[in-house]
Amino acid sequence: MDKIIDENRQGEVLMMDSDIAEASSKKVYIESYGCQMNFSDSEIVASILSGVGYETTRNIEEANAIFLNTCSIRDKAEKTVRQRISTLRKHKSRNGELVIGVLGCMAERMKHQLLEEEKLVDIVVGPDAYRDLPNLLSEAEDGRKAVNVLLSKEETYGDITPVRLDSNGVSAFISIMRGCDNMCTFCVVPFTRGRERSRNPESILDEARMLLNKGYKEVTLLGQNVDSYLWHGGGLKKEFSKLSEEEKKQSVNFAQLLGMVAEVSPKLRVRFSTSHPKDMTDDVLKVMASYDNICKYIHLPFQSGNSEVLERMNRGYSREWYLDRIRAINQIIPECGISADVIAGFCGETDAQHNDTLSLMEEVRFSFAYMFKYSERPKTLAQRRFEDDIPESVKQKRLAEIIELQMKHSKFRSEQFLHKTCEVLVEGNSKKDDSFLSGRNSQNTTVVFPKEHYKPGEYVQVFIEKCTATTLIGKAVKQD
Ligand code: SAH
Ligand code: SF4
Ligand code: F3S
Repeated sequence: MDKIIDENRQGEVLMMDSDIAEASSKKVYIESYGCQMNFSDSEIVASILSGVGYETTRNIEEANAIFLNTCSIRDKAEKTVRQRISTLRKHKSRNGELVIGVLGCMAERMKHQLLEEEKLVDIVVGPDAYRDLPNLLSEAEDGRKAVNVLLSKEETYGDITPVRLDSNGVSAFISIMRGCDNMCTFCVVPFTRGRERSRNPESILDEARMLLNKGYKEVTLLGQNVDSYLWHGGGLKKEFSKLSEEEKKQSVNFAQLLGMVAEVSPKLRVRFSTSHPKDMTDDVLKVMASYDNICKYIHLPFQSGNSEVLERMNRGYSREWYLDRIRAINQIIPECGISADVIAGFCGETDAQHNDTLSLMEEVRFSFAYMFKYSERPKTLAQRRFEDDIPESVKQKRLAEIIELQMKHSKFRSEQFLHKTCEVLVEGNSKKDDSFLSGRNSQNTTVVFPKEHYKPGEYVQVFIEKCTATTLIGKAVKQD
């Protein structure tokens, strides 16, 4: 019965009526794919379903409903989900009443097609329609196929308190906005997640305070482009200059929001993702520099080091602009860790343009990077306008060069921490050896050190003795 507490209503405890009580024995298994926003959405889904008596389970065998929260970003992501759906057949054959649902970006992109092609699927729900899940579930339980893929101009789920899934009890995500208005030509996200809208800052602060009260020590503010966060009373994003005087007065931009969340407590670390080079202001960097508890780490995807390719990608910045933003970071926050996303083999990319990507990487020397081969996505602007003309073998070769260079830079960045002391927020046991603890420093690099008496959730000063490209290894130093 402990799940039937609706925390959305200012702590008021709602007891269930007998109907819901009967359903309370039901269990839902949720599996998430794709970006952090999807993992965060699954926690909203778990909360909505707990309102109608569904408890989450990590044991798929005992589930009455299985939901896959899916990603469409690259073809491979969709293939993985399709394979997963077919492996769910054995569960369905054991339990005819089992409901299988597809949530998230693939649900939005494929809509009814998914029900037709994947006969096992009973429910298809897009990212803005999760409030309708209880209705859709009861339709599916009555044996009807159920779909809701309506996108919204308003929905932010701001009033819903996520049920934390697979949580380490130390760090949590907070969604601050939804959708994306950018229309990068390669990207499916504007089609799957709809228009950009920002969440009420008060509800963001409430969520941060609630997490702090539950013992969490770190929050990550999430959005596809956090720098364009702008609260002006609700609804679709508007330019600041187009706001009425009244809206301007109550407006909150990302730099302001970041400061407000940092003020919740000096003991609550604040991170955010993803920043966009065209929108990242010096104001954001100055707020970062002025609060110790805002982590000194920026994920700033560049996608390509060549301005012509960036233009074809419709990214809204040039190589020079990107490098200027890097200079601003280094100047305002000298100790900042910087990571990036990059795409190899976008339409029409020449060898010389690929070399520009490598040379940009040499100039910046990122701490980490997420590196991808271009994957053409149906209905995107790139698919309609350009030919996906780089042979797979060339894409592969370019990606391998990018990865090799990045390994060198990650190692270089890790080595900068050698023989220095870092503050680490402990998240849990090290995966490789449970006599070691693992956490991250402010720059988001993983640090492992012998456990001694330290515990998850503690801030520990660790002296770094050794490192690999991705991990720092050290020893806790005594604190006064
Ligand atoms: N909103 C974020 C990115 C979200 S998608 C931003 O603009 O930076 C995460 C990453 O996936 C992108 O940064 C990009 O590098 C990669 N990606 C997106 N679409 C892709 C595609 N069609 N093929 C290959 N990689 C892609
Ligand atoms: Fe996609 Fe571009 Fe939006 Fe990022 S900013 S989600 S890459 S359209
Ligand atoms: Fe994938 Fe959708 Fe995120 S396409 S990367 S899950 S926004």
